Amino acid sequence: MKIRKAVFPVAGLGTRVLPATKAMPKEMLTIVDKPLIQHVFDEAKEAGIEHFIFVTGRNKGSIEDHFDRMYELDATLEARGKKAELEILARDQPQAGAVSFTRQQSPLGLGHAVWCARDIVGDEPFAVVLPDELVLHKPGCLAQMVEAAQQLGEKSNLIAVQEVPADQTHQYGICAVGNRHGKMFEVAGMVEKPAKGTAPSNFSITGRYILQPEIFKILGTQERGAGGEIQLTDAMIGLAKAQKFYGVEFAGERHDCGSKAGFLRANIAYAMARPDLRDGLREEMRKYVEG
Ligand code: G1P
Repeated sequence: MKIRKAVFPVAGLGTRVLPATKAMPKEMLTIVDKPLIQHVFDEAKEAGIEHFIFVTGRNKGSIEDHFDRMYELDATLEARGKKAELEILARDQPQAGAVSFTRQQSPLGLGHAVWCARDIVGDEPFAVVLPDELVLHKPGCLAQMVEAAQQLGEKSNLIAVQEVPADQTHQYGICAVGNRHGKMFEVAGMVEKPAKGTAPSNFSITGRYILQPEIFKILGTQERGAGGEIQLTDAMIGLAKAQKFYGVEFAGERHDCGSKAGFLRANIAYAMARPDLRDGLREEMRKYVEG
């Protein structure tokens, strides 16, 4: 099962990190020196993704600009002999024609955002990557999932899962655990944001999926679920009646960058993983931590 395309739903308003996101997409918030969207783009590229599909919305134009060439900037850097900076820009530049942008015109939910990409994805399995969530690990979370999909070798759907404390299960989609196959398990059921005390397990759906194109037909029925939104989890529950779903327990630390605390923690974790920043930051942080 070759996964060539990834869908990035980036239409969300980012209300949890206001006022930072009043005039700027949350996906452009930086973790160390790269916007969130570049982090997940790199993760997808590492996993072998060849086509990157962004489902955008109002005020998201800077995401499109970010993946374009900036001629004036290139020319200025060149004139100033800034080779290292030019190399960074060239490294992050997608191949011509490898990115597509479509628009979710109304905020009807994650399932609806994914459905908006149906014509660009076409009739092949594809990945969904939620840019709010970063996983710090090499190989990346999506590469681990693609590897798992290849191991399975059958037409199936995969969801990245990680255990969360019982008092947090109501914030996520949760999977019920069926037969185990090493780091994977057959998904025996799913529920989007279960009421406290009703979750079938602690395995929360993380923002990485590999899905079969039949999901689009189910999403197309536009049924509303939790919070009155068209939920991806509900469409997956529908597809699970006809196809297999596996939960993949991935290696790596998950960071919810759509929350203020998670965003700050991700910045520290990613900076501490950088040899050029680690020592200086450790010294600086000591001042704050030790008072
Ligand atoms: C979405 C999904 C949920 C998943 C979560 C992961 O929820 O609907 O199943 O657990 O992402 O971040 P959201 O965070 O958009 O409410």
